[in-house]
Amino acid sequence: MLVRNLWLDVAPTQVLTLIAPPEEGGLPPGAPMPGYASSQVLESRIPRFSRGDIIYASSGWEDYSVIDGKGYWDATKVSPGVSPNLAVGALGITGMVAYFGVTEVAKPRPGETFVVSAAAGGVGSVAAQVAKVLGLRVIGIAGGKEKCEWLLTEAGVDGAIDHRGGNVASRLDELCPKGIDIFFDNVGGAVLDLALERLRPHGRIVLCGTTARYRQTTSAPGPLNYWQLIMVNGRMEGLLGRDYFDRFPEAIAALKGWLDSGQIKAKEDVVVGLENAPAALGRLLSGENLGKQLVKIADPSP
Ligand SMILES: NC(=O)c1ccc[n+]([C@@H]2O[C@H](COP(=O)([O-])OP(=O)(O)OC[C@H]3O[C@@H](n4cnc5c(N)ncnc54)[C@H](OP(=O)(O)O)[C@@H]3O)[C@@H](O)[C@H]2O)c1
Repeated sequence: MLVRNLWLDVAPTQVLTLIAPPEEGGLPPGAPMPGYASSQVLESRIPRFSRGDIIYASSGWEDYSVIDGKGYWDATKVSPGVSPNLAVGALGITGMVAYFGVTEVAKPRPGETFVVSAAAGGVGSVAAQVAKVLGLRVIGIAGGKEKCEWLLTEAGVDGAIDHRGGNVASRLDELCPKGIDIFFDNVGGAVLDLALERLRPHGRIVLCGTTARYRQTTSAPGPLNYWQLIMVNGRMEGLLGRDYFDRFPEAIAALKGWLDSGQIKAKEDVVVGLENAPAALGRLLSGENLGKQLVKIADPSP
């Protein structure tokens, strides 16, 4: 298919393709950055798509791409009533990972204490709100006052911890006096150790991402407090969104229902212009983004 890219999904893991040498999967010089996008089909030799369709697919940081429709998530048509930005944000891989991480990996029970790192980011902001809808007590960890303010006033979480402005350990003790039932980790590193230390009996840790490590070129030590998993019969499990591919329609329907009813909000951080895509990736690594980092390239043609 020849497609016009409309909105780009910017993800922290894209930095790995810049760091790794080409023989280890890194991006060869001159190649476009691969990534997910919502796009409009201009020409298609794939029977299930036609000119004019708006799709969500593996594409690249280009105005126009030629794609085969295959990828981590094979190309799909964006459902009627879903905007191209929502399709790459809360209803894209970001939302799928948040939904299945909470519902399937964490297997929550109402009333449990749920802590999430990078809580005001793309995945974190959806995970925090889904956990609230499911009746959990939600504490978000995020960098900066503005993010914490958003979590408390817009996302409706029960507590927010600014990891740039205070002592995370003592704030966790204050806000989770009985410990943590579920930790949804987008970051890894020191915060994972703090959560392990406070894990309650039969607690669960959802390993979604390790943003703190993506730019490290030397190996970092593993979690120090993993023994706590033994002491509390805990479980720490990796989450791969693509494992749930066959169930994505179920997650899209649930999230869209909650978005339409106002129970959750899709927070988007929009950078305009393809030329600003590298800066948008930089925002994820410096923690400037509030909500899902997107790049708008164009509107669809009528
Ligand atoms: N498992 C899967 O299938 C899957 C799929 C998609 C995404 N993911 C992972 O999910 C995580 C979230 O992705 P996203 O797209 O929603 O990104 P995001 O959370 O919106 O953006 C990254 C955030 O990470 C925090 N951060 C950045 N550098 C950091 C550092 N050195 N140490 C600690 N925190 C740092 C910042 O938040 P603060 O300012 O709040 O610290 C930043 O805003 C990523 O790790 C991503 O790789 C996993």
